[in-house]
Amino acid sequence: MELSGPQKRPPGGADVQMCQAILPGHATHRGELSAGQLLKWIDTTACLAAEKHAGVSCVTASMDDIQFEETARVGQIIDIKAKVIRAFNTSMEIGIKVILQDTLTRIQKLISVAFSTFVAKPVGEEKVRLKPVTLLTEQDRVEHDLASERRKVRLQQEDTFQSLMRENSKSDDAIYDQEDCMVSTGDTWVQSIELVLPPHANHHGNTFGGQIMAWMEAVANISASRLCGSQPILKSVDMFKFWGPSTVGDRLVFNAIVNNTFQNWVEVGVRVEAYNCDEWSKGQGRHINSAFLIYYAVDHNEELIIFPRVKPISKDDIRRYRGAIVRKRIRLGRKYVISHKEDIPLCVHWDANKQAHLSRSNVDALKDLAAKSGWEVTSAVGEVKMHTLEERDVLSVWVEKQVERPANLAFDLLSDFTKRPLWDSHYLSCEVVECVSNDDTIYYITCTKVSSSKPIDLVVLVSRRKPIEDSNTYVVAVKSVTLASVPPSPQYNRSEITCAGFLIQAVDNSSCKVSYLNQISSSILPYFAGNIGGWSRSIEEAAASCIQFIEEATIDRFIDK
Ligand code: COA
Ligand code: ADP
Repeated sequence: MELSGPQKRPPGGADVQMCQAILPGHATHRGELSAGQLLKWIDTTACLAAEKHAGVSCVTASMDDIQFEETARVGQIIDIKAKVIRAFNTSMEIGIKVILQDTLTRIQKLISVAFSTFVAKPVGEEKVRLKPVTLLTEQDRVEHDLASERRKVRLQQEDTFQSLMRENSKSDDAIYDQEDCMVSTGDTWVQSIELVLPPHANHHGNTFGGQIMAWMEAVANISASRLCGSQPILKSVDMFKFWGPSTVGDRLVFNAIVNNTFQNWVEVGVRVEAYNCDEWSKGQGRHINSAFLIYYAVDHNEELIIFPRVKPISKDDIRRYRGAIVRKRIRLGRKYVISHKEDIPLCVHWDANKQAHLSRSNVDALKDLAAKSGWEVTSAVGEVKMHTLEERDVLSVWVEKQVERPANLAFDLLSDFTKRPLWDSHYLSCEVVECVSNDDTIYYITCTKVSSSKPIDLVVLVSRRKPIEDSNTYVVAVKSVTLASVPPSPQYNRSEITCAGFLIQAVDNSSCKVSYLNQISSSILPYFAGNIGGWSRSIEEAAASCIQFIEEATIDRFIDK
C-alpha cells in the first residue's frame, strides 16, 4: 500500500500521520518497542483517519492479520501513516503503514502494513451511510478494488475456518501422531483482569480497540514466555475481531494459553470477556475478542529457540491444537494474496552464451531449496503430503507424493512442459519457444486468470537432469527468464517463477516419489484464486491430478507421442 506524502495529496484528504519517538516507557526490558504499544498507536492513527472521513466517532470492528518485519528500539522513531482505502456502507477499510527511522543513520525500514475496519458509530441509534472515498491516483484505484477482495475474505473468515476444521478432523494428521518429547500446555495458562477507566476510552466512553489489543498482547506474551523460558517476540497476529462493544467501567477478563507449537514459533490464543457491575456479580460476561498471536524467541546467542511439541489432553486442547494448524494454513494463503506483496523482480535475462551457467544455477537453486532446514508438514491428505517453509517474507511449498510408475517415466512426462496442461487445470497453454539443448528448453506458458484481473503468462527455462553417480534423483528445475522475442503483452500479466520444479526419486523399479517445490511468487496465484482458505487444497488437487496423469500414461502410449 502506497501512501503519498502530503505535498502530493490535497489538504483535507483522509490521510493521517503519527510520528513517535520510542522512549524507555514504550519498550520491553530488552529495549525493544513493545508490540502492545505499537498496536495502540496503529489503532489510534487508523481511528483518526476513519473519523476524519466519517465526520462522526468510529469504533474498531477488526484488524486483519498483521506481521512485524522489523524490531524498533529505544531512540528510534516510528512513523505511522493511515488512510481510508474504501468506504462501504457503515464500515470502511483503513490501510496503515508503519515505518522505522533510525535517527543516526536515517535509514528507513518497513515494520508493518496493516488493514483495519472501522464502523461509524454516532451517538444514538441511527446508522451513518458513509460517503465514498475520492480516488486520486491509479494506485488508489488498485487498492480500492483490492479492498473489496479483502472484505470478502474477512467476512468469510469464520466460515472458512469452520469448513477447514471439519475437513481437518477427517484427514490424517501427520503432526499430531508424533509422541516424542511432547509437553502439556497446562503451565502456560494465564488469567488477568483490567478495569476500563476513562483514559482507556474515547469521549463517548467506548473502550479503544488498540488498548484491548495491547492488554491481550501482554497476557499472551506471559503465556508464551512460560514455554520458552525467555522473552518472546511477537511475529504476527491473526485477525482481531471485536464481537461487541466495551465501555468505561467494564471489567475485562483475559484468558490465554498456548494452543500449538511449530518448530521456531508458538501460537497463543487469548479470549477477552467484559463484565459490567451487574454482570460481574452474576458471572455473565460478554465476548469481546479472541485473537491468536504468534511468537518466536531467541537464546543468548540470538539463535532461534526450537519450541517443544505440545500434547493436547482435554477435548478443548485438541480442538485448539487443530485450530492452530488450520489457522496456519489460512494465514499462509492470505499472507501472499491479500497483502498483495510485490514480487521482487528476480528474472534473469536469457543469454545463449551463458547457457551452461544459467542451466546449472537453475538446477542448483532447486536442490538448495529442497535442502533447506525448517520445512514443516502443513497437511497430509491421502497420498499427498504438503510442507511449507517460511523465511521472512518468502514462502515455499513442497508437495510430495508416491506414484506407482517408474521414476524415468515420471521424469519424461514431467520434464516435457507441453504436457502440463493435460494434468494441471491452471495451465491454459504451453509451447516451446526454443530447444536450447537436450537438457534445456524455454517455454511460453499462459495460465488461468486470478479473480477479476488479467490472465497470467510466463517465459521459463526448464532444465532437466538424470541422476548421476550415486544419486537416484531426477531433477526438473524451472525459472523465469526474459527473452526479447517474447515481450510482455497488454492482454496478460507477466508473472515470474523464482525457483520451482520437480525432484523425482526411484523407490523401486515400478514406483517413485515425486516432489514438487515452488518458492511462492505470483505464478502460484491461480491456485489461490477465489479460494483463500482452501489454497493448499487447490495445490493438493493439482498434485492428485498429476499422479493420476502419470499413473494412467502407459509406457507404450507415451513412446508413441
Ligand atoms: N470485520 C470487518 N467488518 C465487519 C466485521 C468484521 N469482522 N463484522 C461486521 N463488519 C461490518 C459489516 O460488514 C458492516 O459493514 P457495512 O455497513 O459497511 O456493510 C458493519 O460492520 C456493520 O455490520 P452489521 O451486520 O450491521 O453489525 P454487526 O451486528 O455485525 O456489528 C460491529 C458489527 C463491528 C458494529 C459490532 O460487532 C461491534 O459493535 N463491535 C464492537 C466494536 C467496538 O466497540 N470496538 C472497540 C473495542 S471494544
Ligand atoms: P477456541 O477455544 O475455539 O479457540 P475461544 O474464543 O473460546 O475459541 O478462545 C480463543 C483462545 O483463547 C483459545 O484458543 C485459547 O487459546 C484461549 N482461551 C479461551 N478460553 C480460555 C481459558 N479458559 N483458559 C485459557 N485460555 C483460554
